[in-house]
Amino acid sequence: MRKTILDLYKQKENKQKITMVTSYDYLSARLLDNAGIDMILIGDSLGMVVLGYEDTLSVTMEDMIHHSRAVSRGAKNAFIVADLPFMSYQASVEDAVKNSGRLLKEGRVNAVKLEGGLEFASHIKAISNAFIPVMAHIGLTPQAVHMLGGYRVQGKDEILAKKLIKDAKIAEESGAFALLLECIPYALAEIITKEVSIPTIGIGAGKYCDGQVLVWHDLLGLNTEFKPKFAKVYANTLEGIKKYIDEVKQGEFPSQEHSFSMADEVLRKIY
Ligand code: KIV
Repeated sequence: MRKTILDLYKQKENKQKITMVTSYDYLSARLLDNAGIDMILIGDSLGMVVLGYEDTLSVTMEDMIHHSRAVSRGAKNAFIVADLPFMSYQASVEDAVKNSGRLLKEGRVNAVKLEGGLEFASHIKAISNAFIPVMAHIGLTPQAVHMLGGYRVQGKDEILAKKLIKDAKIAEESGAFALLLECIPYALAEIITKEVSIPTIGIGAGKYCDGQVLVWHDLLGLNTEFKPKFAKVYANTLEGIKKYIDEVKQGEFPSQEHSFSMADEVLRKIY
């Protein structure tokens, strides 16, 4: 049974942590779903971890729809959220609603995410008025990398911390069903989590959020050149690849177990 926003609200109410991981393809989505993940995010981190761009700014609606379709074919139970990519919503409320609709209609996801709070209140309101669940992403918002002066922790000083609390409240009032808090001090994330009634999902925002999200590639240690402080590696893929190389070189792989046999009489006739 597919998770719904009501299940997520209930989890917050009952203090049951919400789990979320990013996915960009069919098999990883199926694996996450079978493992019992609550939410899957087709993040625009797609641009960096799958397509090799230096930031998320080049990701298009077509990229997001293509990958959303694959993920939604793989995940039958998780609640699926897709990112609205850069410039798919910033220019107008109309763009925001139309492109959110495309992600649900063509990408078959259950909800969308946009970056911003106060500045995008009218967009959040219009998207949710169109019956599309929308998540607001605040704190470090990668689409604003050039305004922020890089990827840095947000909300450490009083003015920015107060602004983020306001962003969270306005996003909730405007109709957001959940908040994603990226790279903010854990004490600030705790305040925000207590002050809103919608679930908060954190990445680099400490343990007091209602849930956590990790990027698939960070969780599996696939990106050896980028190790953010907040990411924990749960499986060492590099070690596995090194072992494979070693076993092939040593003649240990493939063994009989991984090989096909044929009848001796057939073999005699051909050799
Ligand atoms: O695009 C993404 O992967 C994100 C992360 C912060 C989870 O938004």
